[in-house]
Amino acid sequence: MDKHIYMDHAATTPVDASVLEAMLPWFTNEYGNPSSIHRWGQRTDYAITTAREEIAEILCCEADEIIFTSCGSESDNLALRGIALEARELGKGNHLIISSIEHPAILRTAQELEHHHGFDITILPVDQHGLISTTDLKNVIRPDTFLISIMYANNEIGVVQPISELTAIAHEHNILFHSDAVQAAGQLPLDIEKLGVDLLSVSAHKFYGPKGVGLLYAKRDTLKHSHQTGGSQENGLRAGTQNVPLIVGMARALTIVAARKSNDNSKMKVLRDKLIESVLDTIPDSILTGHRTCRLPNNASFAFEGIDGNELIMHLDLLNIAASSGSACKTGNPEPSSVLTALALSPKLSLGSLRLSLGRDTNDSDIEYIQQVLPKVINNMRGAL
Ligand SMILES: Cc1ncc(COP(=O)(O)O)c(C=O)c1O
Repeated sequence: MDKHIYMDHAATTPVDASVLEAMLPWFTNEYGNPSSIHRWGQRTDYAITTAREEIAEILCCEADEIIFTSCGSESDNLALRGIALEARELGKGNHLIISSIEHPAILRTAQELEHHHGFDITILPVDQHGLISTTDLKNVIRPDTFLISIMYANNEIGVVQPISELTAIAHEHNILFHSDAVQAAGQLPLDIEKLGVDLLSVSAHKFYGPKGVGLLYAKRDTLKHSHQTGGSQENGLRAGTQNVPLIVGMARALTIVAARKSNDNSKMKVLRDKLIESVLDTIPDSILTGHRTCRLPNNASFAFEGIDGNELIMHLDLLNIAASSGSACKTGNPEPSSVLTALALSPKLSLGSLRLSLGRDTNDSDIEYIQQVLPKVINNMRGAL
C-alpha cells in the first residue's frame, strides 16, 4: 500500500507550508542579530516584536509577558526553577505540588529541585481516568506551598484538566499556578484571563510550527530569575540570541491554529469517536485510557490486554501506520509509563498501550484503514502467544 497514515501528531506535527514561507527570509537575507543596533538588527528585532505582539493577542496577555525559549521542556524548566529560586530568596516557601501524570520536563525538574536543592514536592494522584480532584488538591496545600504545576492536557491519554477551577484554588491560598500547555495549545482555548494561570508553557512543533522553539507566558512580576544566565535577551529572563526564523514561524503557526482550530476540532472529534467506538467494539479486552469526554479532540488512546505496546507499534509501522505507545522498553524489560502507572491499570493492560493521535489532515479513509487492520494485528499477536 502506498498510503502512509501518520497518527502521531501528539509527538510532533508537520510544518505548515505558509509557516515555512514566513520563516524563510529570516534564514537567508535577514540574518541580523536582534540585539545589534544597526538596521540589520533593527529589522530582526522588529520581527520578534511583531511575533510577540501577535502571540500576546491570542493569549490575551501583554507582549512583555511572553518569554521565547528553545522548546516546551525549557519553558517548563524556566517556570519551575525560576519560581523556586525566587521563593527561596524571598523566603516565600519550600513546597511545590505537581500531578502524577506530568511530562518528564516537569516531573524530573521538580525531583531535581527536591534532591539537589532541598525543596519538598507533593505528587498529586489522579483518578482512573487521569483527572485531578479539586478536593485532593485542597488537601495537599501547605502554608509553605509556593507553586502548583498541573498540565492542561496530557500527552499520552489526552485528559484535559479543569484548569480554571484549579487556578482558583491556588489563588485562594496565594499560590502561583503554572500549567504545561504543550499538548493543549493547538486545540484548546488559550485565553490566559479565563484560565487564570500565572505561567504557561507552549511549544511550536505541536501545532504545525517548527521544532526547537517555545514560549513561557509569565504574568508580569511573577518571574524574576532565569535558569540560563548570560545576555539580557528576553528581559533578562532567558539569555541567548533569539532564534528569529523559528520565533516568526511559531507566531504564524499559532495565528493559523487560532483561526482554524474550531473547525479542525469538530472534524477530528467525529473521526476520533468513530475510531474509539470501533476499537472498543471490535477488539476484545481493550479499554480506552483517559477520560471519555474531557479529552483532546485528536487523542484516541487504548490499552489491550496481553499485548506488548512496542511490538504493536512495530507491526503498525510495517502496515504504514505511525503511532506510539506509553511503555518504554528498558534493557529488554518492558515497563509501563509513569502516566499509565498513575491510572493504576493492571500490569496486563498497562504494557499494551497504544496512542493514535489525529491531525488536521486525517480523513475518513485513514480511520477506515485502521479499523480494518488493527483488530487483525491484535488478534494475530494474541494468537502468537
Ligand atoms: C505535555 C508536554 N510537555 C512538554 C513537552 C516537551 O516539549 P518539547 O518537545 O518542545 O521540549 C512535551 C512534548 O512531547 C509534552 O507533550
